[in-house]
Amino acid sequence: MHTNIKIILLLISLFSFSTTIYGAESKNSNSLLLACGSGNGGKDSDGRAWETDKKYLVNGEKSVQTKAEIQDPSLSSEVPYMTARIFTSETMYQLPVQNATARTLLRLYFYPSSYPNFNISNSYFSVVVGGVILVNNFSAFLTSEALSQAYFIKEYFLAPSEFSTLNVTFKPSDKQPQSFAFVNGIEVLSAPELFSTEPEIVGTGEVSEDLTWDAATTTVSLDGISIENLYRLNVGGQYISPSNDSGGLMRSWYDDTPYLFGASIGVAEKADVPVGYKGLPSYTAPLGVYSTFRFIGPDADINKNVNMTWRFQVDPNFMYLVRLHWCDAEMTKTNERVFDVYINNQTAADTVDLFAWQHSIASPTTRDYAIRVTDNNGDAEIWVALHPNVKDRPLYYDVLLNGLEIFKLSDEKSNLAGPNPKISDMMRKYQDKQAAAPRAFAHKSSTTTSALVTGAAGGAAAFGVAAAIFLVAYKKKQRVLGDTTSWLPMSWNSSNSSGTKSSVSGKSQGSTTISSDAACNCRYFTLAEIKNGTKNFSDSNVIGVGGFGKVYKGVIDGDTPVAIKRSNPSSEQGVNEFQTEIEMLSRLRHRHLVSLIGFCEDNREMILVYDYMGNGTLREHLYEGNKITLSWKQRLEICIGAARGLHYLHTGAKYTIIHRDVKTTNILVDDKWVAKVSDFGLSKTGPNMNKGHVSTVVKGSFGYLDPEYFRRQQLTEKSDVYSFGVVLFEVLCARPALNPSLPKEQVSLADWALRCARNKTLEDIVDPGLKGKITPECLKKFTETAEKCLSDHGVDRPSMGDVLWNLEFALQLQENPDSNVTTLGSDSSSSMDYQNAEQIDQNNLIAMHRNTLNLGNDNDANDSSDDSFSQIVNPKGR
Ligand SMILES: *[C@@H]1O[C@H](CO)[C@@H](O)[C@H](O)[C@H]1NC(C)=O
Ligand SMILES: *[C@@H]1O[C@H](CO)[C@@H](O)[C@H](O)[C@H]1NC(C)=O
Ligand SMILES: *[C@@H]1O[C@H](CO)[C@@H](O)[C@H](O)[C@H]1NC(C)=O
Ligand SMILES: *[C@@H]1O[C@H](CO)[C@@H](O)[C@H](O)[C@H]1NC(C)=O
Ligand SMILES: *[C@@H]1O[C@H](CO)[C@@H](O)[C@H](O)[C@H]1NC(C)=O
Ligand SMILES: *[C@@H]1O[C@H](CO)[C@@H](O)[C@H](O)[C@H]1NC(C)=O
Ligand SMILES: *[C@@H]1O[C@H](CO)[C@@H](O)[C@H](O)[C@H]1NC(C)=O
Repeated sequence: MHTNIKIILLLISLFSFSTTIYGAESKNSNSLLLACGSGNGGKDSDGRAWETDKKYLVNGEKSVQTKAEIQDPSLSSEVPYMTARIFTSETMYQLPVQNATARTLLRLYFYPSSYPNFNISNSYFSVVVGGVILVNNFSAFLTSEALSQAYFIKEYFLAPSEFSTLNVTFKPSDKQPQSFAFVNGIEVLSAPELFSTEPEIVGTGEVSEDLTWDAATTTVSLDGISIENLYRLNVGGQYISPSNDSGGLMRSWYDDTPYLFGASIGVAEKADVPVGYKGLPSYTAPLGVYSTFRFIGPDADINKNVNMTWRFQVDPNFMYLVRLHWCDAEMTKTNERVFDVYINNQTAADTVDLFAWQHSIASPTTRDYAIRVTDNNGDAEIWVALHPNVKDRPLYYDVLLNGLEIFKLSDEKSNLAGPNPKISDMMRKYQDKQAAAPRAFAHKSSTTTSALVTGAAGGAAAFGVAAAIFLVAYKKKQRVLGDTTSWLPMSWNSSNSSGTKSSVSGKSQGSTTISSDAACNCRYFTLAEIKNGTKNFSDSNVIGVGGFGKVYKGVIDGDTPVAIKRSNPSSEQGVNEFQTEIEMLSRLRHRHLVSLIGFCEDNREMILVYDYMGNGTLREHLYEGNKITLSWKQRLEICIGAARGLHYLHTGAKYTIIHRDVKTTNILVDDKWVAKVSDFGLSKTGPNMNKGHVSTVVKGSFGYLDPEYFRRQQLTEKSDVYSFGVVLFEVLCARPALNPSLPKEQVSLADWALRCARNKTLEDIVDPGLKGKITPECLKKFTETAEKCLSDHGVDRPSMGDVLWNLEFALQLQENPDSNVTTLGSDSSSSMDYQNAEQIDQNNLIAMHRNTLNLGNDNDANDSSDDSFSQIVNPKGR
């Protein structure tokens, strides 16, 4: 009875939920949504109905309807990503357009995953629409690797043609063997007049001193030009999901922070007066964009000397349209806030005075600028910089920006296609590994966001929610797909041993596999053993709760304490993480990595059993709860241990492994205060991470995220170094990485610490409990190291090995401030030349350094030197 009521309530709430969304959606009923390759369509997580693509195919006989073999946990919904249509020869869709005189908004959805009988890395193709080349020699696989996203969307605003149909042609590249084209979803709608004004071309001609810019600017005509959106940012604000977009256009607006460049990142603020459209068409942007903004700061003297700059990667040799959205909700007179806009170091607008333009407060407006971007040593970028105008002596020396969009314009050959992104070396290594390993484990991206969007903007937000997934790395000999002797299929509902297809949530992912290697390194537990050890999952045993489910304290073998992580039974998306964690941890053995003892997959449960860490997380000893406060030496030792674990991941394994979620809650401490790095992908990728949660999650983990990763979308181990830098400051200052209750400039620990470092006031933010307990030499070394980790550019950051070395050094300086180590150490530290670290080492200054860097090699993975691991028992039944 009780359950029935619950179910009814659930149904009611589901029903009203979907009707709300659906109701909102149906306002814009002219969009056509095709779930390509799907038999009967379906609804996505926004409740939008997608139909099958079949009837729009003109010559589709040779195309293949297929389903992805793996459901990446980051997918927001199965529709449209889990089905695909694959084209082995040129194939055309003929799609109706509602309004032939308007631009057509076309979105292409790609999920370059594993499809039966096709090797996704062979897929190179072109897409042409009405003579406009959208992509050419396009590899969705390389694109997703570069973005580090499992899926992405490309968005176009096609120039109107007089026809009421759109011919969309997919053509596999004939230059690549076994090539094929594919698409997962297509969305078509008639766009409102978003491009009715001609953008001014920036930097045309030489302008002499006495000419005004107006006289010199020329504009570019957008007639007949097709447009692709690359970036769309809500400056100074949060992620805005498609269902919260205005005009029913279903755009995503991302946080701008990742694109900010340089030291002055300004202050993000929310308007405290009501903001309305005041005549601006509402489809231009949602009001959320106009009600948040970014400015430099309160100090005119500082502001005068800075540019607030955003930086974006683009394809060379195209013209771009940069749209700036403004709404000044503060100034009430002219000449109060006046500033200049530079795009690629050229003046785009000078003396922008929004009050003078709009004649009223809080009136939104936009301006479009066009800029041609050429190849600059392989780097094509757009820089947008704002600088206070000093010449007009306004009341305030400050700038303002609310929103920013970047669009690419088709060239004179009606082409929008650029080259495939280059993949960093790290990624290449990863690809090699992927080629060698069954895709089921090669699961690259851990984006949990639902709303993935165009190009890079998507990448950033997606990463914000990213779970901590290791890029899978295999230490053992590479295996080849189909080598059935080394892989044992194992279905999740294995209690049913009939060998029927796995029915995990009815999804088509088939059975999952755990490699026999992993299985052999791990102990297999029955559900009964686990239940027994946790008093049947008693709540009194719960020691933690993550997105994945709960963590229990338990015992096995009578008295061995363990931590038991149990997937929420309704968590269907955890399967891949579960596998990843088993695969990773069963191969990686290190004193400073948390140890996996075994797993249980009875009765569809996904349970992992780890060594019990008697002292919990590092964070709870810093500022959470009322546990014992750690001494400075203990803190240093924990940092050193964690650094060693990370250094091992980066260099000790055959392939570089990037943790991607380094933070104080993922550094655990055992009862002997040995630090262990944990969490390799489980707790973060929860089930229902739907759109509503994205922005908060982005904020929540943002304090640790490498800004360069957002900008370049290239993941390297230096991203972990950045996060570790935040951890170091957290340890020193005993405050969270992000604390929204503090004054604006102090919210982000990374920013605040760097600012204090610049102002030489770091000592003021040190944990009061440590005052007078750190030797000045040690403090200097420690803070210099942490600061260096937070360098804006990855190349300027030390390697984890250098960090480790420097922390060891700091410990020496703490214990023995007068040693000769100090003298030489401070010499070297004054230059902070990490390259010299090796040299100093060679001078044998610190013998222990040898031990420190005695990393695990490949053998470590197998020879467990860890006590807990010698206990690994035979994997039952395998
Ligand atoms: C079609 O698009 C044009 C140009 O955007 C617009 O002026 C017109 O109102 C639209 N017609 C309809 C029926 O929506
Ligand atoms: C689309 O293709 C069909 C068949 O090739 C052709 O008849 C038609 O004119 C094309 N329409 C457009 C708008 O190009
Ligand atoms: C702008 O100028 C800076 C400093 O001179 C330079 O490093 C940068 O590459 C320039 N940016 C562009 C896009 O040209
Ligand atoms: C701001 O950028 C412009 C254009 O690149 C440059 O001329 C100017 O020197 C910069 N100002 C500062 C303070 O960096
Ligand atoms: C297609 O793209 C791949 C990957 O970027 C590149 O190596 C290849 O040269 C390109 N082929 C052509 C014909 O442009
Ligand atoms: C897929 O193709 C790539 C490149 O052609 C190749 O290296 C890889 O081995 C292939 N993978 C499989 C599973 O056949
Ligand atoms: C849309 O915005 C409202 C109000 O700002 C917010 O409560 C809601 O969570 C948002 N919806 C989504 C799907 O982001």
